[in-house]
Amino acid sequence: MCGIVGYIGHRDAYPIIIKGLQRLEYRGYDSAGVALYDGTDINLAKTKGKVEELKGKAESSISLNGNLGIGHTRWATHGVPNDVNSHPHYSNSGNLVIIHNGIIENYESIKKELIKRGYSFSSDTDTEVLVNLIEEVQKTEDVKLGKAVQIALNQVVGAYAIAVFDRKKPDEIVVAKLGSPLAIGVGDDEFFIASDASPFIEFTNNAVYLEDEEMAIVRLGKEIKLRKIKDDAIAYPNIMELQMNLEEIEKGGYDHFMLKEIYEQPRAILDTYRGRLLADKGIIKMAGIDQHLEKFTNANRIVIVACGTSWHAGLVAEYIFENLARIPVEVEYASEFRYRNPVITDKDVLIAISQSGETADTLAAIKLAKEKGAFVFGVCNVVGSSIARETHAGAYTHAGPEIGVASTKAFTTQITVLTLIALKLAKEKGKLSKTEFHEYLSELENIPGKVEKALESNPLIEIIADVYKDSTNCLYLGRGYNFPVALEGALKLKEISYIHAEGYPAAEMKHGPIALIDEQMPVIVIATKKGHYEKVVSNIQEIKSRSGKIIAIVTEGDKQVKDLADHVVEVPETIESLTPLLTTIPLQLLSYHIAVMRDCNVDQPRNLAKSVTVE
Ligand code: F6R
Repeated sequence: MCGIVGYIGHRDAYPIIIKGLQRLEYRGYDSAGVALYDGTDINLAKTKGKVEELKGKAESSISLNGNLGIGHTRWATHGVPNDVNSHPHYSNSGNLVIIHNGIIENYESIKKELIKRGYSFSSDTDTEVLVNLIEEVQKTEDVKLGKAVQIALNQVVGAYAIAVFDRKKPDEIVVAKLGSPLAIGVGDDEFFIASDASPFIEFTNNAVYLEDEEMAIVRLGKEIKLRKIKDDAIAYPNIMELQMNLEEIEKGGYDHFMLKEIYEQPRAILDTYRGRLLADKGIIKMAGIDQHLEKFTNANRIVIVACGTSWHAGLVAEYIFENLARIPVEVEYASEFRYRNPVITDKDVLIAISQSGETADTLAAIKLAKEKGAFVFGVCNVVGSSIARETHAGAYTHAGPEIGVASTKAFTTQITVLTLIALKLAKEKGKLSKTEFHEYLSELENIPGKVEKALESNPLIEIIADVYKDSTNCLYLGRGYNFPVALEGALKLKEISYIHAEGYPAAEMKHGPIALIDEQMPVIVIATKKGHYEKVVSNIQEIKSRSGKIIAIVTEGDKQVKDLADHVVEVPETIESLTPLLTTIPLQLLSYHIAVMRDCNVDQPRNLAKSVTVE
């Protein structure tokens, strides 16, 4: 993971880099650093901790002048988070300085070789090895920085997005990418380098996304030149025009990004189906599916790969696809799929779901499925992300930037996209009558309004959160479409409040988890009217007779559960397969309020990062 930022141009580099790092903290926040060239020398400050701490250190200890600089916010892989292991790293001569996102897998053997040649190392990082390897190549081959980077990268195994500059040639930054994202913002005789476009969006909306195994030399007064790292072939930069705006990536009056993103869901869901769901015409238009319709309709099965919350969206999709389109679906953790020699053929369609579009395991699963001949379709939020580019076709969720580490609007918009696909295929395969299809389309159009309604339970949820904020364990139960929602609710609670939580299919409770139930145990049960309601009511009774505390998510107007549960939160009624879009909302709010009450860092929970680009 880690976030990288660089600038070369006519403005002061420091404020651009600091602000950019703050926007990239979702990628890691163990430590941070900055290196600036002030016209004669490099000034470097780095520290364990967040960018705010770096700011304090840099502003009190180094000169902040200069129009060239690089910065880094770290999620530790090699070496504990401390000042020394923070980036940027100098080469032994002090001439080169580098930032790196990724892992150099063969760094130990390279390090041994460099030590034999007289190099010494102050950190435990693979990155310090890389910068010294570049320096060694520069010396022994007598080549310029760009060439040295290229030769060095041909010797390393692993993943990287790097930016490096040379004190002796301070009119250029050399960047390269393999496996980790790297975007170059192209301004008026100035260049911005970053892990995504958020650090430079207020300066330019023209950007080049490097492909894997590409490098570029960004030089003042020159156009960007791209090269293939392996064979030195010239590649032509595709300058894209970005749609994102700055307001979208700031908090907009909310205390946390997570809360803002929870409240953005009505708009995000609407944006997801806008232009795709044409209810009056009775059609769903999705270019990525329309162009490859036969791949889907002729598929033996659909395999969904994803991680974390996106995997939960995949589980919801399994129910929807099988129920509506009658296509067999398997849902796999990308990390398991990629290493278990799966049986995949050219008759399979693989759908990869990822908010960031950068998750290393999901990316590797895609590559594996492609090698085996499957058609690979991506459902991503981040436009131009690695997964979006690696897949044969895809559909964006259009949720807008998700900054809070805990995924919220990504989940509901992923479910929305997947529902549209399932409905389209169901129609194509003649599995839904015209009337049923129309009912789905018009109900989907009601969902943003119903999500608004579900959000109105916020004050009640705050009261419930106050009752259970000191719990040490929590159980989440749901059936059918709402079983994955139970898993997602539990994941949200554990990741931001650090309370242990488990999600289960409600009926599985009696096969083990029921032993945990006592008067201390809050059990959150999704008990909406449609979907095995009576059976869930029986499960609630089983919990009640063992003194468990019940927080039930019910359909508006419910009476039966109200009499049994300790607390009920109502959501509007909808078609069964669309209930996850509503039942998820109170669970997101519950984990949010509990985390705030426990004084946890909601947007940046410990040990996590927004974009998991390491396996
Ligand atoms: C949970 C969460 C993670 C991500 C997972 C996959 O709130 O954010 O579990 O869902 O790391 O990330 P993407 O969707 O970016 O592939």
